[in-house]
Amino acid sequence: MKKRERTYDKKMEKEIEKLLKKLTLDEKISMVHAATLFKSGAVDRLGIPPIVTSDGPMGVRAEFMDDRWISSGNQDDMVTYLPSNSALASSWNPDLAYAMGHVLGEEARGRGKDVILAPGINIKRDPRCGRNFEYMSEDPKLTAALAVPFIKGVQDNDVAACVKHFAANCQETDRMMVDEEIDDRTLYELYLPAFKAAVQEGHAYSIMGAYNRINGTHCCENKRLLDLILRMEWGFDGAVISDWGGVHKTKEAAQCSMDLEMSIFPDFEDYYLAKPLKEAIARGEVSEDMVDAKVRNLLRMMYRLKMIGSHKDTRKAGTYNTVAHREAVLHTARESMVLLKNENHTLPLDAKKIKKLLVVGVNAARVHSDGGGSAEIKALYEICPLAGLKMYLGGNTQVQYVKGYHVPEKPKTFDHNWQADSVEDLRNTNIGQVERPEANQENERHRREEEERLAQVAREQAEIHEKNPELFAQAVEAAKDADAVIFVGGLNHNIDSEGFDRGDMKLPYEQDLLIEELLKVRKDTIITFVGGSPVEMPWRDKARAILWSYYAGMETGNAFAEIIFGEVNPSAKLAETFPAVYEDCASAKNGQFGKWGSISLEEGLYCGYRHFDRQHITPAFCFGHGLSYTDFEYSGLTLKAEKGKNVKLSFTVKNIGKRAGAEIAQVYIAPIAAKVDRPDKELKSFAKVFLAPGRSKKVSLTLKQEDFAYFDVQLHDFIADAGDYVILIGASSEDIRLRGIATLA
Ligand code: BGC
Repeated sequence: MKKRERTYDKKMEKEIEKLLKKLTLDEKISMVHAATLFKSGAVDRLGIPPIVTSDGPMGVRAEFMDDRWISSGNQDDMVTYLPSNSALASSWNPDLAYAMGHVLGEEARGRGKDVILAPGINIKRDPRCGRNFEYMSEDPKLTAALAVPFIKGVQDNDVAACVKHFAANCQETDRMMVDEEIDDRTLYELYLPAFKAAVQEGHAYSIMGAYNRINGTHCCENKRLLDLILRMEWGFDGAVISDWGGVHKTKEAAQCSMDLEMSIFPDFEDYYLAKPLKEAIARGEVSEDMVDAKVRNLLRMMYRLKMIGSHKDTRKAGTYNTVAHREAVLHTARESMVLLKNENHTLPLDAKKIKKLLVVGVNAARVHSDGGGSAEIKALYEICPLAGLKMYLGGNTQVQYVKGYHVPEKPKTFDHNWQADSVEDLRNTNIGQVERPEANQENERHRREEEERLAQVAREQAEIHEKNPELFAQAVEAAKDADAVIFVGGLNHNIDSEGFDRGDMKLPYEQDLLIEELLKVRKDTIITFVGGSPVEMPWRDKARAILWSYYAGMETGNAFAEIIFGEVNPSAKLAETFPAVYEDCASAKNGQFGKWGSISLEEGLYCGYRHFDRQHITPAFCFGHGLSYTDFEYSGLTLKAEKGKNVKLSFTVKNIGKRAGAEIAQVYIAPIAAKVDRPDKELKSFAKVFLAPGRSKKVSLTLKQEDFAYFDVQLHDFIADAGDYVILIGASSEDIRLRGIATLA
């Protein structure tokens, strides 16, 4: 593969070199590891400030004490709560991705941060992954298309995006140690492209090294990943920051492009890239040049952020909690909710005809901003669906709310933090440079943890089972005489969370049983969800209307009500497959998910819709699916291969219904007679088209030669075979409306 040439800003490099020369070894070492939980070391003498970082993707996280995972308890760190990346991705709207990045960047800067630990762009390999809600999609093209503007939005505020988690961080089970066996083609075609786009198109100033290992080596010490791929092949010249506790060995981390070690422990001087690094240099095991390289990368990021250098007085100040931010968040929430099913035009409801509305389900009245792991937010406010409905309807409609099912609450502990706990385990078993405990010790720990987990599940199940009958009966009774019934169920951050994966893909708290009962008495019950990852919906054939919302931010309730009552026409589509049952997934079939120790990504390229296509399995709702209150017609596909390389295509989308709406037209390619095995189809482009009733628009797109390419392992490069490719234009990955053939020379 061709080495990517870097184009340096000469003035910047000169200023950096000048500073570098003035730094002592001790000062340089202080810069490459944390000095507090979220800051690097500063060198006051030379006017080098600390790099101040903060989570995370859904807003700027609350302030912590410097050396303990305890909130500082301030009241001035409440922020705008943004839709999760999974919600944003369902909008398929790059402009909104820029807008959300911009809000996040401006708020981060407003809170005095230099680096925001976002966006999370790992590919969703399995719907049970606890952090899927923080990620965008199962598809690399869609992820890249949204990650790039998001990063630009952040960085336009003189704040660095720290794109995470590099790479293939696709499960939470054994997250600090799990080894993922991935073949090169899968890595380059599926798990790396969004990161490559983040670097080459988004120009991300920093990247976070992931916790997991790839093919035997931890990502934060992985020379191949960090030196060869990231720096040499892609030309990355920014800073690599470790995930918190992701470094395990001094020499290895020192000798690869890991620039800043962060962790969760307060003994900052004992970090691998602190005192042990100095000792390794003294022993001659690590050269000072390696430290210089790290400092250079950090200084380059700082210079770009105007933290240092002759232009530092021009740095933007940022701000937070503005009205404009809230409006942008509301706009995104509106475009993020996916109408999965809508028979007989059940939705939208006519607000004027409803005198008595029954709302059933705990998620109607629940807020989610304060959970999920490092993505937790101290939101300025969060409008839940029930509040949104009531605010929309006003005082002339009687809105009755019943819980419907019981949710056991996990007690909050204030003296310690889940994040510390989750990594603490590692410290206990990984003291010094020892990499992994004895196998029998390890097995014993897993066994104990699994036993505790099962006992807890059993306790909760018993509690749910005891309390539900009364709650069910109350809901079913109330449903009988309401003018309309809306069920709001789904998941929460006790389930969608960092640190562990879901046990299955079922709706928790016996919600399926309640939904069945409600549908028996009210066929027109509107089934809606708030959640971060797909759930099985065994009753879906019986329901007339199903609306899915990811964690959609502080304005969730307003957007929800506007969609329910038709003030907003839904325009989102799924950025991931919703399988009918978990067992249909590739990783469920090969048993290579959620295991401790190591997993082999045996399915290769065949995850998500690529797998469902190949195996001819019909999912509950396919990738790219999402309905509108209006209908669209597609026509007139034209294809033209320019000089046999790029393919120019155009087609027309017409709104043939009565309401204004937006359609997401998707372009897939299906190679005919490919030289290697290739997925049946792959997303290569898309366009979101906003249309008034009766109006049409010609969509023109260009597929570049690289869109037709696959990764040739022998050549170690992408190549596009000459020949014919079917071009599919779809309203979803299954609803293909137009087809044509393009020939590549
Ligand atoms: C998470 C990262 C997060 C970091 C700092 C880690 O546990 O994996 O995503 O940015 O903590 O809070």
